[in-house]
Amino acid sequence: MIGSIINGKELTSENTMPIHNPYSGEKIDDIALATEQELNEAIDDSYKAFHDTMKKMPAHERADILRKTADLLEERTEEFAQTVVKEAGKPISASRGEVHRAIQVLRFAYEKAKDITGEVIPMDAAVGGNGRMGFAKRDPLGVVAAITPFNFPLNLSLHKLAPALAAGNAVIFKPAEKTPISAYKLTKLFHEAGLPESALNLVMGTGKEVGDPLVKHDKIHKISFTGSLPVGRSIKESAGFKKVTLELGSNSPNIIFSDADLDQAVKSLVTGAFAFSGQVCISAQRIYVQKEVYDQFLKEYVSLTESLKVGDPAEEGTDVGPMINEKEAERAKQWIDDAAEKGATIAAGGERNGAILKPTIMTDVDENMKVIAEEVFAPIVSIIPFDTEEEAVRFSNNSIYGLQAGVFTKDINRAFRVAEKLEMGGVWINEISTYRQDNIPYGGVKKSGFGREGVKYAIEDMTELKFIGVKLEQ
Ligand code: SIN
Repeated sequence: MIGSIINGKELTSENTMPIHNPYSGEKIDDIALATEQELNEAIDDSYKAFHDTMKKMPAHERADILRKTADLLEERTEEFAQTVVKEAGKPISASRGEVHRAIQVLRFAYEKAKDITGEVIPMDAAVGGNGRMGFAKRDPLGVVAAITPFNFPLNLSLHKLAPALAAGNAVIFKPAEKTPISAYKLTKLFHEAGLPESALNLVMGTGKEVGDPLVKHDKIHKISFTGSLPVGRSIKESAGFKKVTLELGSNSPNIIFSDADLDQAVKSLVTGAFAFSGQVCISAQRIYVQKEVYDQFLKEYVSLTESLKVGDPAEEGTDVGPMINEKEAERAKQWIDDAAEKGATIAAGGERNGAILKPTIMTDVDENMKVIAEEVFAPIVSIIPFDTEEEAVRFSNNSIYGLQAGVFTKDINRAFRVAEKLEMGGVWINEISTYRQDNIPYGGVKKSGFGREGVKYAIEDMTELKFIGVKLEQ
């Protein structure tokens, strides 16, 4: 059994929840669920750790802890990768990739911890400002609540923990109930690297019992959440005066113009739609292809998709494993069936076996079907023809979401013109929407959320500017 870790001590409980391997269905472990009282103790402990320790800790010490955590994670890459395979069902090659990214995030945070700067204000720019000097520095906020999703149990946790600690905050870490083992191991790794134990408290529990009181608590200064739109909306409504960063969903569009390198677009977009069974916020969900090359694109795309190895995520060479559980796979299957009943064609896939949903390609879809209008978060992609540049932009922007998009063309003018017009947090040219580099500003517009991650930008959101000025004696 694994449990919450508060002030370095692990909690047990009679109230437990089983954790299952999404592929085999086997029970891997149980989590001891925290009570609201234990949560309150954890928050008090973190609050004290912020004031007594983290706020006073010099930047070079914070940096050193992050560097050591990165080194420890690197030594244990395979163990962490196997954990992600087991609890999330992510194929082993992608799980190793996630660990490598996580190490990099820690190293970006290590570097940035020593470079959190402010600015000198030109006081004499204001009438009456002569004889004064002023500067703005960045101060940590206090206690940051990191509420993390199942799809990147390691890396998306680190996108919150690493910048929060780099900036000198204390953290309450509430991981997804379905993937708590990576979170548990990660918390221990930080402690082993020398982080004061109370500076990172891990609280395991359900959204209702632990998540709700956590976001309402007065001693929390900032909430950083990645997950679904309904949960994000409810967090925002409950958060009151706290700062909030929300990384929510998307139905990311990718536009293929007729002059694009079709082979490259097909190859990268097969990965972009089906990596981790589409359970990625920026997964390629809608592919708009210019009419002149639509048939060729579709033929090659279907053929490559059908060659993917689907099955056991622990087996080397598996491209697509299970979804997080059977319930989610069934929900996605219903969306496919619903679209098919309304006139869509299933060009590939469409079958479900337990938690595995075969990579599915839909055509003849319309904008009101769930597979287009909502975030599918499943291995389902729709391929849709378009005529003009204006039409491609209009189709892409016809969404409540706006996280990342991809545009494929050799025409540089068109590429930038379209990038400017897309209502997105980020646009890639000749790259898939699904690609994320860990040092770019990452976040959405519209209902995809607000605030930005990417260590440097997360640190800006996890600090506040403090002005200090002096009136000089003349
Ligand atoms: C996400 O699902 O929002 C994260 C994607 C990534 O970090 O690659």
